[in-house]
Amino acid sequence: MFISFEGIDGCGKSTQAGLLAEALRSAGHDVVLTREPGGSQGAEEIRRLLVEGHGERWSAETECLLFTAARRDHLERTIRPALARGGTVVTDRFADSTRVYQGAARGDLRDMVDRLHALMIATEPDRTFVIDLDAATALARGHARGGVEDRFESLGLGFQERLARGFRALALEYPDRVRLIDGNGAPEDVAARVKAAL
Ligand code: TYD
Repeated sequence: MFISFEGIDGCGKSTQAGLLAEALRSAGHDVVLTREPGGSQGAEEIRRLLVEGHGERWSAETECLLFTAARRDHLERTIRPALARGGTVVTDRFADSTRVYQGAARGDLRDMVDRLHALMIATEPDRTFVIDLDAATALARGHARGGVEDRFESLGLGFQERLARGFRALALEYPDRVRLIDGNGAPEDVAARVKAAL
């Protein structure tokens, strides 16, 4: 299976991806835990261009191209080989992040995002868990964490609220694939919700 975790910055999806990967490994599965932007050597190099520096460093179009280039490398070098040998892939973010982040930054970009995806990626996870958390709570968690990778978090609360709405809308757009998981509470409680949904 190919499983993705999605959500706004600080929602806890990275923790949940790790917990699910651990649980599946204990159950005897061959699991590759990976992330975007990144997940392969080339994509990790592109990641630095995307997440560091000023919030307005790239135009929205250039940003879409960079995310798509990173995803293509991730798909070729990490995801497809793992699935081909019968493994399970758990990824912290995938194409839904581009739909929501780049779509939220500029609503009229969604068509371009969809066309780039169809041309270069054309792959969807079997199941996607959106960790749903109130933007103010998530932003407080993100700031508490610190570090240099704050280019998107630095875009502010209004942006994070638009993202949260975008992720909820995805669950309606792709009801067969996307499950909305309540992100409130202790990590183990959220993990139990994910396992129940899976
Ligand atoms: P990530 O490493 O998941 O950050 P965090 O752990 O803080 O959630 O992702 C880095 C940033 O890149 C994050 O703010 C979301 C953004 N992003 C996009 O805007 N588009 C994309 O396609 C992806 C994969 C990430």
